Amino acid sequence: MSGYKDSKFDEKEFDKMGLKYLEKIKFEKLKCSRAARRMAQITKWAIRVVTVLLILACAWQLAEIRGALKPRVAHGQRLLSSSFAPERVYKSNGYLMVSSNGGLNQMRAGICDMVAIARYINVTLIVPELDRTSFWNDQSQFNDIFDVDYFIKSLRDEVRIIKELPPHLKKVEEMGTYFSMPPVSWSNMSYYLHTVLPRIEEYELLHLTKSDARIANNGIPLEVQKLRCRVNYNALRFANPIEKLGRKIVEILGQNGPFLVLHLRYEMDMVAFSGCNEGCTDKEVEELTKMRYDYPWWKEKVIDSTKKRKAGLCPMTPEETALTLKALDIDPNIQVYIAAGDIYNAEKRLASLRAAFPNLVKKETLLPDSDLLPFKDHSSQMAALDYVVSIESDIFFATYPGNMAQVVEGHRRFLGFKKTIIPDRKLIVALVDKYNQRKINFNEFSKLMKKGHEARMGNPVRRLVIPGKPKEEDYFWSNPQECLPPIEEEPPPTISL
Ligand SMILES: *[C@@H]1O[C@H](CO)[C@@H](O)[C@H](O)[C@H]1NC(C)=O
Ligand SMILES: *[C@@H]1O[C@H](CO)[C@@H](O)[C@H](O)[C@H]1NC(C)=O
Repeated sequence: MSGYKDSKFDEKEFDKMGLKYLEKIKFEKLKCSRAARRMAQITKWAIRVVTVLLILACAWQLAEIRGALKPRVAHGQRLLSSSFAPERVYKSNGYLMVSSNGGLNQMRAGICDMVAIARYINVTLIVPELDRTSFWNDQSQFNDIFDVDYFIKSLRDEVRIIKELPPHLKKVEEMGTYFSMPPVSWSNMSYYLHTVLPRIEEYELLHLTKSDARIANNGIPLEVQKLRCRVNYNALRFANPIEKLGRKIVEILGQNGPFLVLHLRYEMDMVAFSGCNEGCTDKEVEELTKMRYDYPWWKEKVIDSTKKRKAGLCPMTPEETALTLKALDIDPNIQVYIAAGDIYNAEKRLASLRAAFPNLVKKETLLPDSDLLPFKDHSSQMAALDYVVSIESDIFFATYPGNMAQVVEGHRRFLGFKKTIIPDRKLIVALVDKYNQRKINFNEFSKLMKKGHEARMGNPVRRLVIPGKPKEEDYFWSNPQECLPPIEEEPPPTISL
């Protein structure tokens, strides 16, 4: 098994981020938008930035002075307790228990959604329980992965979050005599107000058994969307050991120049699950097919690999990835950090990628074994380390649009539209086949590849809305547009008579 957590593949994965980067975020957002905006707006924004930075600097100075008199909170240079806004005072309508499901990134997005729901219906949220029974079988709990105290305190001006139920409900919990239900996927807030809230009011305690994709992408009030972002990009930060080791990897990489994070979804389970056999020998296909049939919860058994690949639905192979990166003129000397589990038949399958990009690294090659030992048996924590690196990279490239790819894409947009290449797999396989059959030369191949990806670099774009088909539209978490600087309207086309 790959030992890498990505839960159900067709769903969404996991992740991080902290207030301590607030200034940086604001600055980067502006820095980035600069390129895209007109001069006039630049000036306007610049004034705002300077003002914001000045205010922050003053606030920081004040906090420092006060901090000298007060003990600091647990994590070294983390925020002072006094810097959290005061608690919101409201009448709680009851208690909400949540079981998050899926891999790390899927749970992450789900947790953010649940906070937004709890706030909307004025209930008290119990720190969500993480999935221990999924494919990856990671026993990590919320506080093993996230900084739970920071999570609670930094959101206290919006919603009450507690670590465990009050005594009178603990008995109910122990006896299991409480109401449990999976909320309907992709619901809007009126569902939570009119269907979920009445049950909480009736039973005092309600348990939601699923958290993935439970809020629609669109048609959600602005303040709810903003809170979803605030939770994801500010309140949810990784537990200190993860954060620290993640930073260490980023530092090591940074010392050697720019780096690209490659989320290469080519672990054996992924290849078997997808049924995409491109580049595999007959013997490998047999082995992969057997694995697919052995997993009862993988519903699709008969898969036409060629057809699926041509439709752009397969995870990219390492060979296709190497060609694509080359065609996109990625510097061959850049460090390529592979954020993934064990690549299927790695030695053979990574050969062309290594030939094109000799600085191929992963956390195991950058860190001594002893650093990774505490994380080894915790796939979610290992994925969290990769998340930290993915957020910080100069370029991010994911070969399959799973949860990690999408949540990281959204996070990088939020951090100022950091370069995130979103591969057009249908175009890529068509071009790769043409190139391999020598129907086009490398120059033509490269030109078409670049043209096809011009608008797929994580730049500001509108989130695609398809009413009634939430799975087919752009995922809120891959493009949290409501939380990003407004997109410039295209000037109306000039009509010449
Ligand atoms: C939640 O509380 C706010 C006041 O803080 C109130 O305006 C709102 O109507 C309440 N909503 C529900 C569903 O209780
Ligand atoms: C919310 O969802 C319900 C049920 O799907 C639908 O009837 C309603 O129009 C939606 N409301 C909004 C504001 O989108």
